Amino acid sequence: MARRCRSSGGGNVPGLAVAAPSWLLVVTVVLAGVADGQLQVGFYSKSCPGAESTVASVVRQAGSADSTILPALLRLQFHDCFVRGCDGSVLIKGGGGSAEVDNSKHQGLRGLEIIEGAKTQLEAQCPGVVSCADIVALAARDAVAFTGGPSFDVPTGRRDGKVSNLRDADALPDVHDGIGALRSKFRANGLDEKDLVLLTAAHTVGTTACFFLQDRLYNFPLPGGGRGSDPTIPPGFLSELKSRCAPGDFNTRLPLDRGSGGVFDTSILRNIRNGFAVIGSDAALYNDTATVDVVDSYSGLLSNFFGPYFRQDFADAMVRMGSIGVVTGGAGEVRKVCSKFN
Ligand code: HEM
Repeated sequence: MARRCRSSGGGNVPGLAVAAPSWLLVVTVVLAGVADGQLQVGFYSKSCPGAESTVASVVRQAGSADSTILPALLRLQFHDCFVRGCDGSVLIKGGGGSAEVDNSKHQGLRGLEIIEGAKTQLEAQCPGVVSCADIVALAARDAVAFTGGPSFDVPTGRRDGKVSNLRDADALPDVHDGIGALRSKFRANGLDEKDLVLLTAAHTVGTTACFFLQDRLYNFPLPGGGRGSDPTIPPGFLSELKSRCAPGDFNTRLPLDRGSGGVFDTSILRNIRNGFAVIGSDAALYNDTATVDVVDSYSGLLSNFFGPYFRQDFADAMVRMGSIGVVTGGAGEVRKVCSKFN
């Protein structure tokens, strides 16, 4: 599982690589390959050499025309990988409302047409070779880099799944989830508390619709009974949020990372620590010792100098997320069109 972060300072060197005997290294590499489901960096280097540059160029062009598409593409990979694994199932349309993508958990999902656009170009270059699931993973990686995040290698070789079920998306994490539910949904996908914090920090870029704040601002179950505003929101911030999102306003959008939206940095974690999380699930990360420690470790002023290194660790977490439930080898298919099974 070769991978490296190409831009961030200070990588993590796995302890084993320091003084382990060579046979142990071989075993480790083999096991890592198995854990990744046989994905490998540069999987298309012979079969479709222009695959990665084509996706990058499509994403770059889309981002120049509309920079908000970049965070949308990053979110798209999360939604692909957490439902049936990273198999492109979220891209399937049709079925009279019974496709996975029709589930309300995918509310506001965008960027599917960018994936389809890249697919059309790749089908012209190398028909039947590059999977839609890989295009989703590469596009998310490029979106991270183009918003100022780390550049990193993404192992490829995913194949497209052949199932799309409305109800499968019920398993996605939700803004109403408490920290226990978030932890168990990540654990169900082989990701731990550190991954939960690192990956949620993707909210450093991007926006949310007021739709996802309505309950937190106006319909939150209060400890003494009744409904109102989430009492953990500091009063000044509550007024700010209410002035942006009036009752019943579902469509206005606001940055998830207050004061630093659109810039890839760790300010989202400082915001979470200081009570300025915009959506409830981000706020929940500061409700549990395990995740509080992770938030604190990356949001301290000195972590940029002495680690842990957010950019490197975020890239590694993205690679782990991109390996969830992958379909490889002879299983699945390589779709001709991303929104339809062959
Ligand atoms: C922990 C559970 C998570 C929950 C409950 C959650 C929820 C949300 C919600 C409600 C939005 C606003 C969507 C909209 O209004 O369009 C959003 C946006 C976003 N999410 Fe998450 N998210 C989670 C984890 C993640 C992860 C793991 C990633 C990627 C690694 C991610 C990446 C994004 C991005 C980039 C946006 C901005 C999208 C845009 O601007 O169009 N999220 N998320």
